Amino acid sequence: MIIIQAKDYDEMSRKAALFIASQVLLKPNCLLGLATGSTPVGTYQELIRFHEEDGLSFQQVRTVNLDEYYGLPASHEQSYRFFMQENLFDHIDILPENTHVPDGLSRDPQAYGKEYDEMIASMGGIDLQLLGIGSNGHIAFNEPGRYFTAQTRLVDLNKNTIEDNARFFESADEVPRQAISMGMRSILGARRILILASGANKAEAVRDMLEGQVDPMIPASILQLHPNVTLVADNAALSLIS
Ligand code: F6R
Repeated sequence: MIIIQAKDYDEMSRKAALFIASQVLLKPNCLLGLATGSTPVGTYQELIRFHEEDGLSFQQVRTVNLDEYYGLPASHEQSYRFFMQENLFDHIDILPENTHVPDGLSRDPQAYGKEYDEMIASMGGIDLQLLGIGSNGHIAFNEPGRYFTAQTRLVDLNKNTIEDNARFFESADEVPRQAISMGMRSILGARRILILASGANKAEAVRDMLEGQVDPMIPASILQLHPNVTLVADNAALSLIS
């Protein structure tokens, strides 16, 4: 794993955006795997700036998102589809039909998860997957557990994730308890992975991901098995690395 150090969140965001922009320049019709949450917001702002000021075009880019809260319609302000429109898609020249976020209202999540994985494979697989990391070590909503799961599927969010994400809702009670999450197969199938981490609350997860055993209790540790992972993290998130 290549580690790129940044002094703070803004520098992490600039470096991450350069990384993604270079992928788009190299392969204009690339398939980008995208994440939501607080971590990539600054990266998306930088990409919007590259688009507006430097003419970076996303016209041929295709995207697949990692996850969506189960039960939230796309129009809900806390849905991940809404997040992606607000934070990126509405500000660049990407074609709406080229963007894919799991459907939080799917009636048959099991069949839907299979279709989502098949769609990614039929698009040629992910060229660059952007990831954040949960304070409990999750990637997408693959929560700590007894085993790693390959498929996109319906998952129960654990208590820690519900508490972490309560900041976006009126209260923890309003955080959906389930999500549709990409599984490890599509994530590890990406040709390159870019994982971002910012802040002291991610330091333990980053240390365990890098220095611990590959262990489903630290889902991000599976990235040790991928040949092309880059971590861009700020000093606070790297503070526990030996
Ligand atoms: C988001 C996702 C999650 C987040 C993680 C970190 O699509 O899949 O794994 O990346 O929960 O969230 P933030 O960035 O809000 O700390």
